[in-house]
Amino acid sequence: MKDYSEHSPDATVPVHLTLNGEPVSVDVTPNAILLDVLREQLQLGGTKKGCDHGQCGACTVHVDGIAMNSCLRLAVMCEGQEVTTIEGLAEADGRLHPVQQAFLERDAYQCGYCTPGQIMSATAMLDDERIASDDAAVREAMSGNICRCGAYRNILAAIQDARQQMQGADPARSDLASEVRS
Ligand code: FES
Ligand code: FES
Repeated sequence: MKDYSEHSPDATVPVHLTLNGEPVSVDVTPNAILLDVLREQLQLGGTKKGCDHGQCGACTVHVDGIAMNSCLRLAVMCEGQEVTTIEGLAEADGRLHPVQQAFLERDAYQCGYCTPGQIMSATAMLDDERIASDDAAVREAMSGNICRCGAYRNILAAIQDARQQMQGADPARSDLASEVRS
């Protein structure tokens, strides 16, 4: 009799990736979604589940530096890749990324549920030289991130503040990382 047990949907496979700068190995089912693995197996709850269908951007992470909806990505596809979540954005000493700092200073959120995804999309966008710096281009680039609280005006202001900060010589950061992580 042939044994097909290793092909069972419940069988797991190891995935090796670099997660927030650290090598990680995690056993996942072949159909496990990256978002669920991050939240439920790796205890990284900063990445939020909104629509679970690629429509809201709450689950945005960086994969090899590119912003992606983690609800649309199989965890097994991340073998050998570099994944960064909101928990990995601040410096090791707790200093915030300029985009995180600007969100705090501009009060660019209300409930905060969309905020990690907004910040992950914004940081990738600011690193993408193909995207123009004017407000219209930023709005278009960020259009995949929905904010049900309607904090768009302050989100845009925060992103443009962060752009200026990042172009400066010495970006000031704070030690308030836990405020954005929670
Ligand atoms: S939860 Fe992934 S896009 Fe909405
Ligand atoms: S701050 Fe509430 S959904 Fe954006």
